[in-house]
Amino acid sequence: MHTGSSPRILDNLTTAVLTFDADLRLTSINPAGEMLFEISAKKAVGQRLAELLPHARLATRTLNQTLESRHPITARGVPLKLPGHRIITVDCTVTPLTDAGADGALLVELTQVDRLLRLARDESMLERQAANRAVMRGLAHEIKNPLGGLRGAAQLLERELPDKSLREYTRIIIHEADRLRNLVDRMMGPHKPLKKQPVNIHEILEHVRKLMLVEVPVGLTLERDYDPSLPEFDGEPEQLTQAVLNIVRNSAEAIQHQGTIRLRTGIERSFTIGQKRHRLVLRADIEDSGPGIPEEIQEHIFYPMVTAKPGGTGLGLSIAQDIIAKHGGLIECRSRPGHTVFSIYLPLENGHG
Ligand SMILES: Nc1ncnc2c1ncn2[C@@H]1O[C@H](COP(=O)(O)OP(=O)(O)OP(=O)(O)O)[C@@H](O)[C@H]1O
Ligand SMILES: [Mg+2]
Repeated sequence: MHTGSSPRILDNLTTAVLTFDADLRLTSINPAGEMLFEISAKKAVGQRLAELLPHARLATRTLNQTLESRHPITARGVPLKLPGHRIITVDCTVTPLTDAGADGALLVELTQVDRLLRLARDESMLERQAANRAVMRGLAHEIKNPLGGLRGAAQLLERELPDKSLREYTRIIIHEADRLRNLVDRMMGPHKPLKKQPVNIHEILEHVRKLMLVEVPVGLTLERDYDPSLPEFDGEPEQLTQAVLNIVRNSAEAIQHQGTIRLRTGIERSFTIGQKRHRLVLRADIEDSGPGIPEEIQEHIFYPMVTAKPGGTGLGLSIAQDIIAKHGGLIECRSRPGHTVFSIYLPLENGHG
């Protein structure tokens, strides 16, 4: 720490440790804290909490409460808005310091944790998502019909053109109509009812792995860490493959097709999806070491048409979420620069074996 008396050990902690006096003025901050807040101890010490974190009014309230109650508080997964408007998620402990005379009245420990992104697990969000998809499908359908007419007319016109050089224009119409139709087909997504059969998740993952390695023959490694004890469940292999492929493809794109993606499976006990508490849930993780989900779209990645890629349609994840939801499951994501994990959860109630 940078204020003399505190032990050297704090210098090497990865947890940010800060102390405040009774007026909520910063009295000390360790190097991990300086890194987290992107500020030097010299500049920060003496500042009030409200100056350090102008956007975090909740933090001020929490610290004041602790000062009054004299009881320590621990909170997990708290979003914290930093001065540069960056939002991070932290596990946080606030401890009132009782020994009078110390230069700190409050000890604050902050550990940055991966941000958990998901459509809320509750029913209303899942329903709203399903409703969104239904509207989109209807819209896509309406666009598709006239598109066919447009394309057909351009073809007829092309045949009748007196001047072949004008074909350049009919080609553009046809080409763009095809492009739009592909988009619209994806927007409609797999809308047939599921034809369920017993599925082994590892067969799906292995299938996706092979498809990916055909798509990217050099530079990409897909490591597996499978839990062989997982039972089969009822699902539709084709649609599940599509869902997993959409996620793995994103990971491959995130690491620019160079490096390692990890596929992991395991079991979760007592897990809630929608209103339902499931005794056993299968979990499949897809993990990459890419730059992470861009800040500005983090809240929205599971919604259609949200993309940060030039030329991206932003449909991959919303389709994946749709397919997994139809299987009674859910997709979640944790992401920070250098580490992104998408987790697919599928209930095993109807499990075989
Ligand atoms: N593993 C990842 N690492 C970093 N960013 C990701 C990752 N997966 C998804 N994203 C972000 O989420 C956005 C939405 O992904 P989504 O698959 O829905 O659409 P897309 O990949 O942009 O387009 P497409 O429809 O072709 O899949 C991406 O544009 C990307 O910015
Ligand atoms: Mg994608």
